[in-house]
Amino acid sequence: MMSMVYLDHSATTPLDPEVLQAMMPYLTDEYGNASSVYGLGQRARQAIDQARDEVAAFYGVAAKEVIFTSGGTEGDNFAFQGIAQRNADRGRHVITSTIEHDAVLRSADALEQGGFEVTRLPVDRTGLVDPANLAQALRPDTILVSIMHANNEIGTIEPIRELVAVTRERSSAYFHTDAVQSTGKIPIRVDELGVDLLSMSAHKLHGRCYHRCWGAGTNATAVPAPRTSPASWGWRKPSASRSVTWRRTPRTSPPYATA
Ligand SMILES: Cc1ncc(COP(=O)(O)O)c(C=O)c1O
Repeated sequence: MMSMVYLDHSATTPLDPEVLQAMMPYLTDEYGNASSVYGLGQRARQAIDQARDEVAAFYGVAAKEVIFTSGGTEGDNFAFQGIAQRNADRGRHVITSTIEHDAVLRSADALEQGGFEVTRLPVDRTGLVDPANLAQALRPDTILVSIMHANNEIGTIEPIRELVAVTRERSSAYFHTDAVQSTGKIPIRVDELGVDLLSMSAHKLHGRCYHRCWGAGTNATAVPAPRTSPASWGWRKPSASRSVTWRRTPRTSPPYATA
């Protein structure tokens, strides 16, 4: 039989045996509910807390800023639509690029249908967003900018630090980046990039890819990953298979420089 050479690790990756080994106790004996006060539940809680600490250390954020989701799509939806809906009283304009993943593009469509205005920035021939174009697009009512870190089709790495700097100079908007393709391939520190929100997905780096999360004793299967509309923007029960990190930088008094 011919053996297959798998060359699509940007789509998903096989589970690393070490990850399976780490997950096994929680797929078998350690099935407690992390909210339970007895030993079985508390061990599940400890495992989740440890996973949260490790993700936080990896990205350079505080553990309390990490939110586990079912995957990159839900992370993007959560960040993009959650921030927009929560800040609609401050403005109803969001900015993204034309080359984002569907998880962001379709979130943008959904917001538009809900009465938000969306600016989709073009990219140059190498797939880069020009910070000058972003500067022009920012408005006093812009509440969110979402530009991906690395593109899933052409591999372009966007100048996130420059884009964040422009955003900070000219607005009080939140900055989200989709780091689903860059995590594990290039160094990423949230504190260095300066973003407010970053989403990632463990199945791109040899973690598990079920939307049914393995969760350390939690049951996340009842909440499907939303595609175009937020099923729930509240805090979800954690699962340790995939995550989005969230920096809660308060942006209440806009230092917008009127030109
Ligand atoms: C850039 C990017 N964002 C988001 C996603 C969605 O991630 P997930 O498959 O975990 O929902 C993908 C998946 O390919 C992606 O490449």
